[in-house]
Amino acid sequence: MSDPVLEVESLSISFGTTRHRSTVVHEVSFAVERGEIVGVVGESGSGKTLTAMGASDLLPAGAHRDAAKWVFDGTDLLGADHRQRSGALGGKLAVVFQDPMSSLNPTRRVGNQLSDTARFWGKQSKPQARANAVEQLRRVRIAAPERRVSSYPHELSGGMRQRAMIAMGMMSTPSLIIADEPTTALDVTVQADVMELFRELNETEGTAIVLVSHNIALISEICHRVLVMYAGRIVEEVSGADLAHSARHPYTRALIGSVPSLDSDLDSELISIPGTPPDPSRLPPGCSFADRCPLVTDRCRTDRPELANGVACWEVD
Ligand SMILES: Nc1ncnc2c1ncn2[C@@H]1O[C@H](COP(=O)(O)OP(=O)(O)OP(=O)(O)O)[C@@H](O)[C@H]1O
Ligand SMILES: [Mg+2]
Repeated sequence: MSDPVLEVESLSISFGTTRHRSTVVHEVSFAVERGEIVGVVGESGSGKTLTAMGASDLLPAGAHRDAAKWVFDGTDLLGADHRQRSGALGGKLAVVFQDPMSSLNPTRRVGNQLSDTARFWGKQSKPQARANAVEQLRRVRIAAPERRVSSYPHELSGGMRQRAMIAMGMMSTPSLIIADEPTTALDVTVQADVMELFRELNETEGTAIVLVSHNIALISEICHRVLVMYAGRIVEEVSGADLAHSARHPYTRALIGSVPSLDSDLDSELISIPGTPPDPSRLPPGCSFADRCPLVTDRCRTDRPELANGVACWEVD
């Protein structure tokens, strides 16, 4: 039975004033089931980050959200004000970004920053929170955690900082982690460690994860389900197991084709597909991928295919 931790329907994100509004994320709908790992892939500018931010109440200033439904862990966030939303999300939603330095406070010891989360959201006492911080650092495999709790962020390596961020997210036992390119800034072996850590948290704690990444091979390996975004829309939804060999949308197939070898080259970033995606705020009338698509027909240039049975394309079903 479906038991989503996050449910979003018809989420659109736009910038500008009412008169000059440009919409960059268009009516995106998805759910994340408890314990599920959902990947989000797509070229740069396709709306992955804004979708993740829109769902986690972290939109940048000037961004406007529209949605028909937005429910997190049983709480309707659509009708809630900012305070109610942060009450519902605080401690239950952990967000991990590409650059942990921007999220960690450089002037405070790592352990204190971790403890704050547990004291505030988990209502833990100071000694409890400190013990919890050591425990979480140990769990993300930071060596000598009793010593490292007293370190400042700049005293840690990039990989350690990213793991400290994940440990901070785990302090309050979240139901969902949203990770946006969490390993892009790290070297390859550390990337693999961080991914292994996500998988372990998912398996042992049942934590649901939304993982945004350019790395298709990694996504297909770790994710139960994958959302493929193009020009601000979800154009395909496919299981992680089917991504490499049974994806149907010509765009998804092109993305996979752009990875030199999915089986052998697990760390490769995708290289580009010929042509460029349209500006998501100025989309052509039909399918946004029409100009680059090998299967394009006249209909594709006039009528936009909706996402139906997992794929938004007139030519495949
Ligand atoms: N603050 C902003 N103001 C105006 N437009 C924005 C803003 N942030 C993002 N956009 C636009 O919204 C679109 C989607 O951006 P988003 O950052 O979500 O893409 P992305 O898929 O995460 O790309 P990347 O892979 O490069 O991180 C892009 O066209 C981008 O130019
Ligand atoms: Mg992004």
